[in-house]
Amino acid sequence: MALRQDVQAIKERVDIIALVSRYVTLAKSGSSHKGRCPFHKDDTPSFMVNGEKGLWHCFGCGEGGDAIGFLMKIEKLSFMEAAQRLAEETGVSLTSSREDGERDALRAVVAAAAEHFAANLTDARAGARARAYLESRGFDEAAWKRYGLGYALPGWDNVKRALGARFGAERLLQAGLVVEGEKGTYDRFRDRTMFPIFDLSGRPIAFGGRAFEGEPKYLNSPTTTLFDKSRYLYGLHWARDAMRAAGHAVLVEGYTDVLTLHQAGLTNVVGSMGTSLTQGQADLLGRLVREVVIAYDRDSAGGAGAVRGMQILRNSGLDVRVARYAEDEDPDSLVRKYGGGAMRDAVQDAVPFHQFYLDSLAARHNPRTVAGKEAILAEARDFYRGVRSLPLQQEIARGIADLLDLPPEGVARELGPRRGRSVAGGDGGPSSRASWGAEDDLLSLLLRGDVTWARVAGTVTVDDFAPEHRPLADALANAPESPRICDWVVERLREQGLEDLVERATYYALAPVKFADVDRALEDALEHAVRLPRLERKLAEVGAAIRAAAEAGQWEEWARLTRDQQAVADEVAQAAVRDARRGMHGRGQGEAQGEGEAKAG
Ligand code: UTP
Ligand code: MN
Repeated sequence: MALRQDVQAIKERVDIIALVSRYVTLAKSGSSHKGRCPFHKDDTPSFMVNGEKGLWHCFGCGEGGDAIGFLMKIEKLSFMEAAQRLAEETGVSLTSSREDGERDALRAVVAAAAEHFAANLTDARAGARARAYLESRGFDEAAWKRYGLGYALPGWDNVKRALGARFGAERLLQAGLVVEGEKGTYDRFRDRTMFPIFDLSGRPIAFGGRAFEGEPKYLNSPTTTLFDKSRYLYGLHWARDAMRAAGHAVLVEGYTDVLTLHQAGLTNVVGSMGTSLTQGQADLLGRLVREVVIAYDRDSAGGAGAVRGMQILRNSGLDVRVARYAEDEDPDSLVRKYGGGAMRDAVQDAVPFHQFYLDSLAARHNPRTVAGKEAILAEARDFYRGVRSLPLQQEIARGIADLLDLPPEGVARELGPRRGRSVAGGDGGPSSRASWGAEDDLLSLLLRGDVTWARVAGTVTVDDFAPEHRPLADALANAPESPRICDWVVERLREQGLEDLVERATYYALAPVKFADVDRALEDALEHAVRLPRLERKLAEVGAAIRAAAEAGQWEEWARLTRDQQAVADEVAQAAVRDARRGMHGRGQGEAQGEGEAKAG
């Protein structure tokens, strides 16, 4: 893929030390440079940049990446924007691939459709009902123009007839404007008021269409080459500058909420197009603001989808507050009834999302009865476990303890385990892990380039790694042999949208853990991360088979399995002896590892 090569070329040419030095004062420290992290309040310099590896990592806040990732974070740019900038600086020209041609062609169809819908809206007869509807909702002719609103005619083939000859049926299908039926294609949007969805350059890429009555109330474009609802926010291109300036965004559910608020002068408002916010949308917000104020409909804000979305935002490092208003209101109705000031007040008075959640628990269950207490604890468990920050978890436990009049430690215990190998990936960044284990050693050896994958390939498979590390292991297994292996891995992970793992990879690559004896460290790591766990799994399997054989009265089988079990147990014992003889000589624990762990909590 040409883009990959271009990106590789940019990363080889860019001087990451010089780039970072434009924003951070760096001092040389060993083979790396050190400074105060620009992404969190950093009193001790915990921000490391390694010019040779082309990577940076903050051992305070856990963020990390390469030069492009740094520019994205510090200038709040998208990947392509950052790559483009560095391409110019390094004299690399980003190839416009065939994909770009494809996208251009689709954009032309969608633009033509938007024009077609807009023309319908102003058509004296055909557009009358949609115009009346929009006016009743407070959108006048100027608003139709400003927001590109339109109307899809009733009937099955208006779009097809208007655009088919010019663009061809296939393109209309690719753009999501027609649907494939048994007797050929027909218009997706029929008799609906149309809300175009614009990209960041203000070009229409998709639509939401509202029915006058009937279900579904809103129909959206499907995922296309141009549009993926899970990675987009309605209104982003109108709101981007205001969001950046305000430092926070107001997140609403609906198209009309966005437009009404913008009309009322609240311009940092974007729409999630429903209540189930995705990680992709959270990433988008995280590039622009530090805080998100959720302003969903009153009845959906407490729903499971909304709460999950708040956790995604919070776990992406954003502060999250929830606006509250009277029953049955949504931002659109609030502004239409009481004016923009009421919405501004609601944003101002929004409460932290965990507070909002606790209040909603207290409203739904009686915290003074035993049954109510049990219900609250049961319901809060998932919520608690879904939160990645230890201080926040403690605050939630304290809040629930107060509410239920129970001791906080007991509540915290009841709400569940936070740490542990199996959950480290899902809800703990590298900086919040409980302990550094053999698998961490192995990944560290590989990502620093101390050991090549080829060297371990006979012993290890990707499946030997903990599930959360598998994409990382998979990238390693497919990487070309290169001194900048981690940089290559970071690129693959970013392509897959695995930001958490990018940070983890730079952590492994830059943490100054010292492997005094690489061969020995590798032997230890393989033993403890791969061979022993395999033997343990085998023991468990054989144990289960023995029980099954006993239950079925298959005594010959039982005797054979028992011998197997003994053999495996012997192997485990031998491994323990080897271990004791070898001692744990491989790794001299570097102080930076302590730093990494000190942040846990
Ligand atoms: P709402 O039903 O709350 O929308 O759904 P709304 O904007 O308040 O509706 P009206 O026009 O004022 O009555 C919120 C959002 O959820 C998505 C849409 O993006 C909508 O704006 N949605 C809702 C759908 O995609 N499909 C639906 O059927 C309903
Ligand atoms: Mn609504």
